[in-house]
Amino acid sequence: MDIAQLKAAQKEGWKHFAPLETVTTPSAARLVHFAGISPGARVLDVGCGTGVVAITAARLRARVDAIDLTPQLLERARENARIAKVDIEFREADAEDLPFRDGEFDIVVSQFAHMFAPRPDIAIAQMLRVLRPGGTIAFSTWPPELLVGRTMQLASRYMPPPPPGIPSPMLWGDPQIVTQRLGSAVADIVFDRDSILVPALTPQHFRMVIERSAGPIIKMIETLAVSQPERLEAYRAEFDAIVSQYMRDNLICQGYLLTRARKV
Ligand SMILES: C[S@@+](CC[C@H](N)C(=O)[O-])C[C@H]1O[C@@H](n2cnc3c(N)ncnc32)[C@H](O)[C@@H]1O
Repeated sequence: MDIAQLKAAQKEGWKHFAPLETVTTPSAARLVHFAGISPGARVLDVGCGTGVVAITAARLRARVDAIDLTPQLLERARENARIAKVDIEFREADAEDLPFRDGEFDIVVSQFAHMFAPRPDIAIAQMLRVLRPGGTIAFSTWPPELLVGRTMQLASRYMPPPPPGIPSPMLWGDPQIVTQRLGSAVADIVFDRDSILVPALTPQHFRMVIERSAGPIIKMIETLAVSQPERLEAYRAEFDAIVSQYMRDNLICQGYLLTRARKV
């Protein structure tokens, strides 16, 4: 599999993500506040999905552009913006090739999205390129040692390997690696942590939602169901065991990392 094939597969997988927008809605507001988005600011949301961050920012009267790889999610984002009565330019584009001029934005944000671009150095260089000097970059990512990171690493053991040299997306959840990747292009890096509490009756209910909606998982489940049903059962048992460790009172705790920095 080469990069183009990987991106085509990602685009195909992410098209079912819309039901999970309720999960990422509260953390969207958290990121918007953390990034310091204020009225009039020019904001870019990278990997906007169904628009939860972009619309939260636009409701604060920021001037927002948003891009995503997946047309079906952009359709839903436009519908969400119509319901919210906000004006946002949503475009189909790749985080690794942003269709904007250098320094166009005051703030560039990404919620659980730029982390899935396969080449982190290219994605971050693009996000910093379209940001003006003195502007803010801010993003939310899944740490490898918490629930989402652990279940993604579990899934990766059951999937075909990515093309050589493509690192795990979860490395964006490690502050040391984030600091390295931002490098000398930024100053004043700030990290914070928060969690999303997802209602679920059982780990199995939660797993069923993930299996139907989470981009990277969908294809893997389809493939295993046909070719190796016993391995699929092993995956599911391990998944449920991890989720049980994060579940209390019918709520599943998904911890995440927030990063903010100023472009120099
Ligand atoms: C977990 S979803 C998050 C969506 C949204 N930001 C939210 O918080 O609900 C990941 C998103 O990243 C998008 N994505 C993945 N790779 C991308 C890339 N290379 N360029 C742009 N978007 C990408 C997917 O299409 C999907 O919408």
